[in-house]
Amino acid sequence: MTAEIGIDLIKAKNILENGDLVAIPTETVYGLAANALDPLAVSKIYAAKNRPSFDPLIIHVGNIEDFQKYTVDFPAQLLELAHKFCPGPITFLVKKSEIIPEITTSGLEKVAIRIPKHPLTLELLNKLDFPLAAPSANPFGYVSPTTASHVYEQLGERIPYILDGGPCNVGLESTIVGCENENLIIYRKGGLDLDEIRKVFLGEILIKDHSSSNPQAPGMLSKHYSPKKRIEILESTTKIDLIEIKSTGFLRFNSRIDGFGNQIILSEKSDLNEAAFRLFDALRQFDKMDIQKVFIELVPEKGLGIAINDRLRRAAAKS
Ligand code: TXA
Ligand code: MG
Repeated sequence: MTAEIGIDLIKAKNILENGDLVAIPTETVYGLAANALDPLAVSKIYAAKNRPSFDPLIIHVGNIEDFQKYTVDFPAQLLELAHKFCPGPITFLVKKSEIIPEITTSGLEKVAIRIPKHPLTLELLNKLDFPLAAPSANPFGYVSPTTASHVYEQLGERIPYILDGGPCNVGLESTIVGCENENLIIYRKGGLDLDEIRKVFLGEILIKDHSSSNPQAPGMLSKHYSPKKRIEILESTTKIDLIEIKSTGFLRFNSRIDGFGNQIILSEKSDLNEAAFRLFDALRQFDKMDIQKVFIELVPEKGLGIAINDRLRRAAAKS
């Protein structure tokens, strides 16, 4: 099988209705989608990604009314956030309704649900009478794809169709939120800046994005989003071996280091949105270069920079 790349929504719809996989564009990253209500279709996602079956999937719907269909007791605080930010880069972790099969949530009681902000995918979702389960469309553990060709390069032999919606304009996975005892919990920092959430949610916000307390969510394991090249965070104390310089890449935030090759600058104008947009493509470019390792510079720890640094630290993590 070799994937076709196109913008044919009827074709995408037919493939999904037949229980097969389609890669879909979203504002965050590309997803690998199947009918979330069909266990056999969902099992094909795990197989194509080599994803362990204990790592649950996010389901995607076209409008807020669908939240009631696929979840139970959607908390009022989360509904308020949904009205404010959906469609957009936010995912809600809420008790699932019975029609969501166990394989979709890896047997967990809660389902992650979101409304992606991409015109093609929204139109597709509104043509379907089921939600789409879709993890990021990359092999398990690797960097998420932000263009149709990123998907094609890695999964092109395993899926029939890639819906091409152009480059993802946020470029980081969605922020995952839920509610525990009236508090808002952030399970994954992502494309929706926490400061935006703080403006709307006045109660306590707790961050629980570490795997130790949450072994069922390996996407939050410290090592994830990992390129093939060795990644090291560049600190002011890092000694750069000049003999190795030709085989070293540098991921920089806004400026070049004079005299070194293999540099990618995320945003010359120091714009964190632009840096997020370019991040995963940059990590993929380093993987194609003839180098041994990459030094990465963290970006300012504010706004979207918090989620960018989270991905960079995980890419650099040893285990
Ligand atoms: O932006 C996004 O969220 C993208 C696009 C395609 O929508 N999707 C995405 O999916 O990033 P994925 O599977 O790569 O990451 C989802 C994360 C995983 O770490 C998974 O473990 C966690 O969400 N997750 C999903 N359902 C869950 C559940 N029921 N309970 C706990 N964690 C869950
Ligand atoms: Mg992923």
